[in-house]
Amino acid sequence: MAESWVNSAEGLGSDLHLELGAVGGGSRRAVLMRALREAIRGGRLAPGTRLPPYRSLAADLGLARNTVADAYAELVAEGWLTARQGSGTRVAQRAAPAVPAPRPRTPARDSRPAYDLVQGRPDPAAFPRGAWLASARRALTAAPHDAFGPGDPRGRAELRQALAEYLARVRGVRADAGRIVLCSGAAHALRLLARVVGGTWAVEAYGLPFHRALLADEGVRTVPVGVDEDGARVGELAGPGTVLLTPAHQFPTGGPLHPERRAAVVDWARATGGLVLEDDYDGEFRYDRQPVGAVQGLDPEHVVLIGSVSKSLSPTLRIGWLVLPERLMDGVVEAKGEREQWSSATEQLTLADFVESGAYDRHVRRMRQRHRRRRDRLVEVLAERAPHVRVTGIAAGLHAVLELPPGTERAVVKAAAWQGLAVEGLSDYRHPDSGSGGGGPGGGERDGLVVGYSTPAEHAYAGALDALCRALPPA
Ligand SMILES: Cc1ncc(COP(=O)(O)O)c(C=O)c1O
Repeated sequence: MAESWVNSAEGLGSDLHLELGAVGGGSRRAVLMRALREAIRGGRLAPGTRLPPYRSLAADLGLARNTVADAYAELVAEGWLTARQGSGTRVAQRAAPAVPAPRPRTPARDSRPAYDLVQGRPDPAAFPRGAWLASARRALTAAPHDAFGPGDPRGRAELRQALAEYLARVRGVRADAGRIVLCSGAAHALRLLARVVGGTWAVEAYGLPFHRALLADEGVRTVPVGVDEDGARVGELAGPGTVLLTPAHQFPTGGPLHPERRAAVVDWARATGGLVLEDDYDGEFRYDRQPVGAVQGLDPEHVVLIGSVSKSLSPTLRIGWLVLPERLMDGVVEAKGEREQWSSATEQLTLADFVESGAYDRHVRRMRQRHRRRRDRLVEVLAERAPHVRVTGIAAGLHAVLELPPGTERAVVKAAAWQGLAVEGLSDYRHPDSGSGGGGPGGGERDGLVVGYSTPAEHAYAGALDALCRALPPA
């Protein structure tokens, strides 16, 4: 009897892996009993685990039913197993192996900060579990059989259709489902575009270091374009090429791209045959007035829209999308690969239902109110306790920037750590080639803190703000 991966043939059974060859010889019953004792002693079969019915185990192992029934009965008699009418044969409670007690964690070893204002994600406790579950149930019930097949590399048609309608209504995007390719978040979208478009890209002087690293990884060189209160200084763009922007809410400094610059960058792309990549990562979260529409709406043949649910729902869903000009469709689909291999088709169907049923709108509206309340609280607390610190980038998004006196950023981040607060400095986001000669605010070095006010749980927010104020430099 060699090692067996036993697979219940009798429908009602459960799988059980036993290494019959590894426990010595003897009668078949004795070998089986030793293998079961080994599995219980080693903790692989925990107390309470239900064993497969003896018939199915016998079929799986190629043993006579009596052999397995006798082995079970003897192990019951020895106290390793219990047999009760109606609940089958289970591993006995007292057969539990001795488990060493875990070593107590001393507070000094726990290096997690007490408070977290690192930007990047919505409060995980705010995920709309109930509504998501209802969508998942409806979507799975209605899904055609082909949803469980290999899939279309563009992603599920249901979600592409739902997004085409949603993005047109909410973000002013000009798209039909045929121009949408689903992907695993904005990061994946950038990887695909890097492979298809390649070359050198202009990127904002302040941006996500992870995105720059990912582009370098794909062989794309990035050159910085200055950033100020009106967003990227797109007048600096020279000649044809590709530019990656965050027009709705410059990341991380926070200003929306000025209307004149929106028009100018589209003119530049038209005149030079250039391409604008619009990272619309948090476009729905605008607080003081209606969100600005996507630049893509101005010229869908020269602007690629990149979207994601990472800020609105959760970064763990790994669902994003590209709205593409006709000329890039084939290349991107080819770069993506033969079949949907990145984000689960069932999650895509769930999101399609979530959007179509209006649950996404409701969730975004609820989160907008919640983020706005938090932003207002941040501004109030700073006005009270640190009026000398200027807060910028507050019109939209899930984070704000606190301007700091030159040369103080490192010390403030350190002081925050002493207060048990995790928060990042603005310089962490600066492009390494954007030297101090960038010219004016935003082009060169600026000291500041990037404060993610959506991150903490409700109950931890006041404490996080208190720790922040204690870390700030005095007036
Ligand atoms: C600037 C920016 N773009 C896009 C995203 C979304 O990335 P992803 O969809 O890969 O999670 C983020 C982070 O959530 C971001 O900060």
